Amino acid sequence: MTDVREGEAMSVHALVVDQDAPGGIRMGEVADPQPQPHQVLIDVHHVAVNHGDLRTDVRPPGTVLGCDASGMVAQAAADGSGPAVGTRVVAFAAGAWAQRLAVSVDDLAEVPASVDLADAAAVPLAGITALRTLRAGGPLLGRRVLITGASGGVGRVAVQLAALGGAHVVASVGSAARGEGLAKLGAHEVVVGLDDVDQPVDLVLDNVGGSQLVAAWNLLTPGGSLQSIGWASGEPAVFPPYSTFALGSAKTLSSFGDAANVGADLAILVGLLGDGKLVAEVGWRGPWGRVTEATAALSGRRVAGKAVLDVKSHEDS
Ligand SMILES: NC(=O)c1ccc[n+]([C@@H]2O[C@H](COP(=O)([O-])OP(=O)(O)OC[C@H]3O[C@@H](n4cnc5c(N)ncnc54)[C@H](OP(=O)(O)O)[C@@H]3O)[C@@H](O)[C@H]2O)c1
Repeated sequence: MTDVREGEAMSVHALVVDQDAPGGIRMGEVADPQPQPHQVLIDVHHVAVNHGDLRTDVRPPGTVLGCDASGMVAQAAADGSGPAVGTRVVAFAAGAWAQRLAVSVDDLAEVPASVDLADAAAVPLAGITALRTLRAGGPLLGRRVLITGASGGVGRVAVQLAALGGAHVVASVGSAARGEGLAKLGAHEVVVGLDDVDQPVDLVLDNVGGSQLVAAWNLLTPGGSLQSIGWASGEPAVFPPYSTFALGSAKTLSSFGDAANVGADLAILVGLLGDGKLVAEVGWRGPWGRVTEATAALSGRRVAGKAVLDVKSHEDS
């Protein structure tokens, strides 16, 4: 466990934006975070890569990347809330790719003893996004749910949670190879693209954007909703004239970006991991010094699920 001495000026290693470095990322040194009264200090063991972390070009040099981490509480919150020193936790906070991280007690959860901390690190942003967009779509039992980009981080959690909720899950991927393992996770249909989806769907979780968003919109039943999560394709979406007009109950398209106060939802997700009802799909894992290999694999669509980086090796623990 990290020895944190009061008043001692320290720095920690972190992965920061540097446009001159390969992949736009380099290992740097940043000031040891000083937690606010409602924050704990975490000794980070593992972090995960999200699609948004690939956009180093839109962040100022020196920005610490990442938002998903797991580890051990090194210093409890000064206001007395939250977990005690030594508790295994998973956390969601900007600048997570660092050896130590200050996190609000509202944005973390204790990790059950049976759950590997590396698996827990894969959960935060992808899991919260899948959980909250499925909730926003209403009851799932017996409904047809289409998930695009189902091979990715958000998609692989969404497939599992939708199936757990009793939905008929249609998982759309870019190729047959990218669909491997999705049926085992609960997908009732695995389709390449959307051309072979021949029945309307009640809910769409769209991770791809562009022409797939338009095609998915056209598959929605009256009263159905499309949750626009992401735009992994980077392509524009062109809606043919009148395609947003339909007789009957209104179809809706909702944006998503609600990652506030995630602690309670993180507890649900790692609880499901602990109960064996949810599997953390870690498709790439390695030491954090190999971060650019991980980001290249993710942007090259070669990761099935999440990429997890080990910040602390076994020898350090
Ligand atoms: N709104 C929010 O708060 C929020 C939260 C999390 C994520 N997001 C966004 O949601 C999207 C999915 O996130 P994620 O973490 O699941 O990403 P990911 O793990 O990289 O997965 C994205 C999936 O999109 C598919 N895809 C289709 N066309 C693509 C293209 N041209 N380039 C890359 N991938 C393409 C890929 O599937 P195939 O290889 O099978 O085609 C890939 O598996 C991203 O755009 C991300 O930025 C938004």
